[in-house]
Amino acid sequence: MMRPATRLLIAALIAITGAACEPGKAAGPDNFVGDARRGTDLVKQYQCGVCHDIPGIAGADGNVGPPLHRIGTRTYIAGYIHNSPDNMADWIEDPQRALPGNAMPRMGIPQKDARDIAAFLFTLK
Ligand code: HEC
Repeated sequence: MMRPATRLLIAALIAITGAACEPGKAAGPDNFVGDARRGTDLVKQYQCGVCHDIPGIAGADGNVGPPLHRIGTRTYIAGYIHNSPDNMADWIEDPQRALPGNAMPRMGIPQKDARDIAAFLFTLK
């Protein structure tokens, strides 16, 4: 037979374990993790500048898509999606999943890279 105190202890442990899982699940600008410096290099590597004019990236003067000046303070991505670091990372990872049929192609960018690129884009204010 379990003593009430033991039961309480077990319940408390379950509660603590559950709480510890919360932050990983929660998504939002406050706990967004991305490396903006690495993102700068990735924007060059993936050649986003072929299609976009991007401040601070040498040779990035494309005019296929919109210029990314002050994209970190823009209200909407592609005129439809609420702009947040998480939504931006989703957009970069797969713009066709984010907004099917839009003109930006899926480039096969891994999630980690997309998050670092989003962190860089949010330095453009
Ligand atoms: C082949 C051309 C092309 C490439 C390469 C490209 N994009 Fe785009 N991008 C577009 C087009 C076109 C749009 C406009 C989509 C729309 O508004 O429907 C767009 C939209 C965007 C937007 C939203 C802009 C806004 O004003 O709402 C962001 C941010 C963006 N691209 C970032 C990137 C990044 C970062 C890369 C590189 C990883 C990249 N793009 C590569 C064509 C491209």
